[in-house]
Amino acid sequence: MTRHWADFQYEIYLNGMTGAVPRLPTDLTRLEQLTEQRLGPGPVGYVAGSAGTGSTARANRAALERRRIVPRMLRDVHERDLSVEVLGRSLPAPLALAPIGVLSIMHPDAEPAAARAAAAQGVPFVLSSASSTPMEQVAEASGDGERWFQLYWAKDREVTRSFLTRAKSAGFTALLVTLDTPLLAWRPRDLDQAYLPFLHGVGTANYFSDPAFQAGLAKPVHEDPDAAVMHFVGMFADPGKTWPDLAFLRENWDGPIVLKGILHPDDARRAVDAGMDGVVVSNHGGRQVAGSVAAADALPRVAEAVGDRLAVLFDSGIRTGDDMFKALALGARAVLLGRPYAYGLGLDGQAGVEHVIRCLLAEFDLTLALSGHAGPGTLGIDDLIEESA
Ligand SMILES: Cc1cc2nc3c(=O)[nH]c(=O)nc-3n(C[C@H](O)[C@H](O)[C@H](O)COP(=O)(O)O)c2cc1C
Repeated sequence: MTRHWADFQYEIYLNGMTGAVPRLPTDLTRLEQLTEQRLGPGPVGYVAGSAGTGSTARANRAALERRRIVPRMLRDVHERDLSVEVLGRSLPAPLALAPIGVLSIMHPDAEPAAARAAAAQGVPFVLSSASSTPMEQVAEASGDGERWFQLYWAKDREVTRSFLTRAKSAGFTALLVTLDTPLLAWRPRDLDQAYLPFLHGVGTANYFSDPAFQAGLAKPVHEDPDAAVMHFVGMFADPGKTWPDLAFLRENWDGPIVLKGILHPDDARRAVDAGMDGVVVSNHGGRQVAGSVAAADALPRVAEAVGDRLAVLFDSGIRTGDDMFKALALGARAVLLGRPYAYGLGLDGQAGVEHVIRCLLAEFDLTLALSGHAGPGTLGIDDLIEESA
């Protein structure tokens, strides 16, 4: 059934007849500041912070802002359908929730609440390897909701294999492999507070609950949690991986595989050659390489290189419905939403995440209609102009 996302607007105005107003702002760019006021500096710094001076995160926003929509008139936008086909799945809108680790620092209901919100709105939830809740519990919360698993590709093959087996049997249908985090970047907001939740055993639930991980410990996790943390630190990421290693993932995962963190068209071509099913054009929200190309500047070149051969997804900087419009016009098939839903969770739990999804998609639906489009399928580069930087 086609969802009428823009109707959220009328729902808000109608509720207003009884004096009610939304609990959270409908301009999602305001959530970060509200979160800063309500949550502690450690968690807020971890979520809002970026690599270096934050220049990449700012560039992500600037690259989207710099592109301006050129609306078209008299094109019958009365009936609209936002649904798209992505990785063989039919989605009600070109949106999924990005993998964000350690959500318990934002809200005690953490990943299960975000997964429930995504399922309630019909949007795929991408669960991070660095979840604060074991994947099986998140799967249970997500019910029959679409769920994808994000892999931090561990040094230890058996742990990776075990994660893939567990994810498959818990109903995660697609695998997103994050390639841009073989090391943790220089992140001053976290460094200045010496704040890293993993060292306190937060964000390690998938590892601590894993039989292959546990097999590498001298004592059970609860008897020697510090040793478990150190074991995690030693295997979490692997800067030694190269393209041929992808064959291991292909052998151990029979669903779609998507490479997250692709910015160069040649890397996107290599993804095609390696038999991958998709890429996420992403710079991790500016959290990894300070001074990196803005994700929206990288997107058109990647889409042009491989868009007809695999699914091109996009994240890093999406805050509003018009950002979504622009990313799709630049060649993305769908976008992942990152920080805004983490703020929604922090401010109002599951309801906050649902609010964020509904605002974003209502605004996207209205932007499409007001610009002369009845669905994402007609968007293209000609719908934008680029202001000089
Ligand atoms: C607090 C935080 C934690 C994140 N954790 C992960 C993660 O565990 N795995 C991953 O692939 N990406 C992770 N990301 C990156 C997101 O998936 C996404 O690429 C990024 O948030 C997009 O940038 P934006 O939020 O500024 O739009 C994280 C991002 C944030 C803000």
